Amino acid sequence: MIDEGHRVTSWPFVPGLDGAGVVEQVGEGVLDFAAGDRVLALFTPGDRSGSYQEYAVVQEKDVAKIPARWSFEDASTLGVCYLTGLMALGIGLQTPLPFLKGGPTSGLQPLSVLILGGSSAVGAATIQLLRLAVPECKIIVTSSPKHHAHIKDYLGADEVIDRDSASLSLDAKLATPGSGGVDAIIDAVGAGSMQRDIFEALDPGGPRMYAQVWTGRKQIDAPDGVNSILFRGRDLHRLSGNQNIMKSLEQLLVQGKYKLPLPVHKVGHGFTALERGLELMRRGVSGEKLVVSI
Ligand SMILES: NC(=O)c1ccc[n+]([C@@H]2O[C@H](COP(=O)([O-])OP(=O)(O)OC[C@H]3O[C@@H](n4cnc5c(N)ncnc54)[C@H](OP(=O)(O)O)[C@@H]3O)[C@@H](O)[C@H]2O)c1
Repeated sequence: MIDEGHRVTSWPFVPGLDGAGVVEQVGEGVLDFAAGDRVLALFTPGDRSGSYQEYAVVQEKDVAKIPARWSFEDASTLGVCYLTGLMALGIGLQTPLPFLKGGPTSGLQPLSVLILGGSSAVGAATIQLLRLAVPECKIIVTSSPKHHAHIKDYLGADEVIDRDSASLSLDAKLATPGSGGVDAIIDAVGAGSMQRDIFEALDPGGPRMYAQVWTGRKQIDAPDGVNSILFRGRDLHRLSGNQNIMKSLEQLLVQGKYKLPLPVHKVGHGFTALERGLELMRRGVSGEKLVVSI
């Protein structure tokens, strides 16, 4: 947003979609929250509502309480990747989402899914949500080798493949039950634009779904016969139960069913640290979330 003006209507502009803190005041009609509550929220970029500032105004439906054992730093990293993971499943693959009140209750129950980019925040969130949505699904994930233990032992994926393997699609295929290929691919990082052979991992006789998280670039063309679905943040209205997303996250946190997707790198405190964090982000992150406290 800062570098390219994405979603900026005029300058100056306050960005920031994720964040956590203490409720200072609630508006009329707010029932579930009170001053002093520890919360995380989905913020909306803008002068009053972006998270890169000391005070911001957010809608009640976009707020979730944080259990006492969660720090603000950890909780601040949860919102957007949780939301995007839910959309990857509910819109991209059209799976049921039994933990989302009012969410889809029927749909595709894939036997196996390949998630591209398991060490991205979106990928790490999606692994956990897919396990909750379709518990028996074989979850195969790509990342660089240094993140394999985190993805398998901590997040619970069944198989992890080196993202740079020369035989990536074959490796994924061989990891599926029956070795026929995966039912679906979720591309969390736009890998399909460069790794064109990835579509060969799809089972020719399966549903052949390809869910693309929008990465700010062009839509990735999938080969004929692949059911490709691109989704962006603004497509949220297409997901039933979308008003209850943060409530579902709150419940999963209380039940201990959703973990911190990626380790947190505390960049520092204050607006100067924010500049430093943005610079680190521009250079690219690997398997971690950058957090600044204000
Ligand atoms: N549409 C939406 O609503 C929405 C919402 C949020 C994010 N996004 C987009 O989704 C993408 C992911 O966001 P994020 O915040 O989760 O990203 P991130 O955490 O910054 O992603 C960094 C990770 O991507 C991995 N990666 C990059 N290329 C890869 C490849 N070819 N194969 C496997 N892994 C690869 C790297 O893996 P290794 O370190 O293991 O090499 C790295 O850990 C971004 O493009 C973001 O803009 C879209």
